[in-house]
This record gives sequence, C-alpha cells and structure tokens, in this order.
Amino acid sequence: MTEPVIYEYSAPGRRAATLPEVDVPLADPLPPSMLREGLDLPEVAEGDLVRHYVRLSQMNYAVDLGMYPLGSCTMKYNPKVNEVAARIPSLAWTHPHQPEYQVQGNLHILHTLQEMLAEIAGMDAVSLQPAAGAQGELTGVLMIRAYHRERGDDRRTVMLIPDSAHGTNPATTTMAGLEAVTLRSDARGNVSLDDLRAHLDDRVAGMMLTNPNTLGLFDERVMEVCRLVHEAGGLMYGDGANMNALLGVAKPGELGFDVMHFNLHKTFSTPHGGGGPGAGPVAAVDALAPYLPGPVVTADECVLDIETGARWQDDWSDEHCIQGNWYSLEMPAKSIGRVKSFYGNFGVLVRAYTYIRMLGEAGLRKATDGAVLNANYLQALLRDVYPLPYDRRCMHEFVVEGVVEGAEGIRALDIAKRLIDYGYHPPTNYFPLIVHEALMIEPTETETKETLDAFAEAMTRIAQEARENPEILHEAPHTAPLRRLDEVQAARNPVLRWEKES
Ligand SMILES: Cc1ncc(COP(=O)(O)O)c(C=O)c1O
Repeated sequence: MTEPVIYEYSAPGRRAATLPEVDVPLADPLPPSMLREGLDLPEVAEGDLVRHYVRLSQMNYAVDLGMYPLGSCTMKYNPKVNEVAARIPSLAWTHPHQPEYQVQGNLHILHTLQEMLAEIAGMDAVSLQPAAGAQGELTGVLMIRAYHRERGDDRRTVMLIPDSAHGTNPATTTMAGLEAVTLRSDARGNVSLDDLRAHLDDRVAGMMLTNPNTLGLFDERVMEVCRLVHEAGGLMYGDGANMNALLGVAKPGELGFDVMHFNLHKTFSTPHGGGGPGAGPVAAVDALAPYLPGPVVTADECVLDIETGARWQDDWSDEHCIQGNWYSLEMPAKSIGRVKSFYGNFGVLVRAYTYIRMLGEAGLRKATDGAVLNANYLQALLRDVYPLPYDRRCMHEFVVEGVVEGAEGIRALDIAKRLIDYGYHPPTNYFPLIVHEALMIEPTETETKETLDAFAEAMTRIAQEARENPEILHEAPHTAPLRRLDEVQAARNPVLRWEKES
C-alpha cells in the first residue's frame, strides 16, 4: 500500500491551529521584494497533521524498537535519564550569548566533562567543540599539521592510514591538505609492520589508527606501531569511534597516541539523531594541547559569595562564602581556531556527562566488558553459519562474510535486507572494504542473552532459507514500507521531495 502524503489531505482554508486576534500593534510588513507570489504549502486539519508525523515515525526503525547491530556505530540504548537532564530548564533554556557569570553551572558541566574525557583518554586536555567524529578527525589532523609547521617541518605532508580504516580518515586528511597513504593489514588483521616500516620517512606527519580497528580486532602491536611512528618524527592520531571496547581498560594516551576524538553519540549513549547534532570532542597530550580548537572551559580557584554570586580572588572569611571554581571560556595559545560555533552541541554534551556520572568508573568498565562479552558470544554462535575471515577473539564487534555455502548468488545485501523481515536493523554491510561481502556486527552491551540468541537464530534461519528458497532473500524486504530500492538510481537521480503525479 502506498502511504498517503500530507498534500493529499490538503484543502484551501483548512487549518491545524487557530491563533487569537492580534492585540498588539502589527510590525511593518516585509518589503514586496522579499515576498513570494504564492507558496504551495499543505493546508490540513490538526488530526491529519498529527497522523502524518506519527505515521512517519512508525516507518522508522529505532534502537528503542529492537536490536540495531550496526557495526562501528555503537547503537546502544540511550538511557532516558540523559534526556531528563538535558531538558532541565536552567540547562535547556540558556543561550550561548549569556555572559559567563550567568552560566557558571553550564560551564561547570562542560569543564567536568573535559576532565572526565581527558582521564578516559589518558591525555592532558580536551576541546568539546567538534560536532561529529569526522569533524574531530579533521580537527586532529589540522592540529598535527599546525604542530609540524610551527617547527618548520613543512616536508611532513603524509598521513599513514591502514586499509581497514573508516573512509572519513582519508577524507579528513585530504581536506586538511595532507596526503593519505594506505598501509596494508596482515593476516591477523593487525597493521603490517613491514609495510609500516617501508613507509616511514621524514615526509610522515603522522598516522591515523582505529583501535580496536573496524574488523573489531585489537591491534596486538599498537605500542610498537606508535613507537615506530614517533621515532620517525610523526604523531599518532587515535580514531576513537570504537572506545566502547576500551573504557576503563586501556587509555589511548598510555598506548602512545597523541591526539584522538571521541564519538559521544556512540560511546556515551547520546542519540545519533539522524545525522546531527552529535559531538566529537578531541583530546590531546601536552605537546598538542595548545593547538586545540576553542573556546575551551578553564577553571580558577576562588572564593564565592553564595548569596550574591560575587567572587573573590583572595581569602575571604564570611559565613556566605565557599571555596569554589570560577569558570571562563578561553582560546588555547596556538589554537587552530573555531571548528564550530560557541562550545559545541551543548545538549548532547549534557547527555554524555549524565551517562558518565550515572555509570561512574566501575560502570563504564562494566559497559565495556559487557560489549566485548556480547560480541564474542554472538561470534561463537555464528562462527559455523557464516565464514569468519579473522578467526580470533574479537573486541566489541566482529565481521563475517555475508555468503552461504551451497547458496550461490546470495550476497551480504540479501542477508541484510532479509533481516529487516525478521525485525532487526541490518548490520553494517560492505565495510570494512578488505572483507569480501562484509557484514559487521556490533551487538553492544545493552542487549540481553535472549535477544542475542534470537538474533543468531534469525541469522541461522536466513542461511537455511538461502539454500532452500533464495528468492525470498533476493526479494527482501517483504514487510518494510518500501521494498528493495534501486541503489544506483537512488544515488544518481535522487528524488528528495514529493511531487504531485500529473
Ligand atoms: C571508525 C570510525 N571512524 C570515524 C567515524 C566517523 O564518525 P561520525 O559518524 O561521528 O562522523 C565512524 C563512523 O561510523 C567510524 O566508524
């Protein structure tokens, strides 16, 4: 059935809302040059408007509906307490142009979040500005470039990137004006040390490494990789997209990384939000901290009068006074500048802060342990059903080949689409590029054993269907609002708005 669209309910003069008569003087009308002749907006009743949006929301799939094992995206459940905190009126209704003295509470949250992320990273300073992981990468690469340039090391223009990396790594390197050079992975899924050594020279600005990598594997020689790059004068960028596998277990700064980003919308359970707003804070060691984008929040110890809010820099003895911090916004000394307006996406930062405070150190460690246990459990259930290209203990995700023995012509895409009929969001497919027909599965720590068992059962049944009735896979999905899309047409001739049929 084709869903009716809102224009089909439209009739001239219909209204979803009525406003009272204006009882204040009218503002001057807009000049005619700024007005349009006509605007073809739907005119609908309130009920139809509500049904339109509810229907659209029901066509969507969400982690609140079912398992969402989208590898490398960490679609973990978003605790509702995060939302409660973000909606506290004194946080939700502040404006970024308010003066510092009016938003000391907000700045306290941001400063504490900076400190907590620096601790988790094992690094010295954090900027909360970047709005996504990819923007964090661009930020980090620009910082590395600025560091070398300031030392007069202009020859260093090469960024080494393993072949398992996310596409944003070479993309952001190129955007920053550096040259992306690919390194091979070895048979165990680690960076090939031979290939690394062959590429190390005085043109290397640094290396971007995701650890665990996008195969879900911890690079067993990560410290050696960092040492070799440092010996060659390069810096190590850590793509922190997979930090859900490391929280409380290992700190990138202690492994040898110099700068990294976090994806708050993955690791710290803030909503992915259909492309935004997200947050990709960047952490850096002392040598790179001055280059961080700003403003960052700084804290000065002072004495505060809790009745008037006044602050005193010197000792002050009065019953109204407490020892506390005064927070300010500052630009780091050699900052690469702003990469986002103000201090980033505040509401998202509040959600991540709440998540970290609710779990605490022990809770974060437990989340990581659960994520790794769940992935290994599922990997064990599926090991004999789908080929496992790297048969070793995984971290928080793993990759199988989306092919079935005895079912020629079945591809990862068919399996992914058939999973929709079983009520699951498909895993990431065709990434990483180094795995044939890749299906990248990340269950996350928030799924129960029963859910994992049911998912494995669905994957097993699909493999059976592939042998007995391959057409049912080729034609999947059967139950979704839209059937299999022509992806080439969708990419080449995208239809992005509704048009009346003539
Ligand atoms: C390994 C890796 N790096 C970087 C990114 C980019 O992060 P974002 O989507 O927040 O821009 C992703 C996103 O999936 C990723 O998986």
